[in-house]
Amino acid sequence: MKVGLAAEEDVPEGGMRCVDLRGRRYALFREKGTVYCLDNTCTHLGGPLCEGTLREFVVQCPWHGSRFDIRSGQVVGPPARSAVRMYPTTVEGGKVWVDLP
Ligand code: FES
Repeated sequence: MKVGLAAEEDVPEGGMRCVDLRGRRYALFREKGTVYCLDNTCTHLGGPLCEGTLREFVVQCPWHGSRFDIRSGQVVGPPARSAVRMYPTTVEGGKVWVDLP
């Protein structure tokens, strides 16, 4: 199901935004003009990825430094071992649309 999670201008280039929907929190990122969406919860011990730091398509968890590729959710740096869920995302009509299960 496609859901409008944010206005396009609410996700700054090189930045991120936390979005709550139906009791769940998502992390939106924009790098090089493209918007990406991950589950907000780090797979290590649950740190909030939308409060981390973003550099070159990699978000670093603010709690213990795990790093995830925002394009896939794959782990690129420990201590996390499991990928975080990634959701297909498009920008249309000034809104960020995320394909949620
Ligand atoms: S909770 Fe994210 S690295 Fe530990």
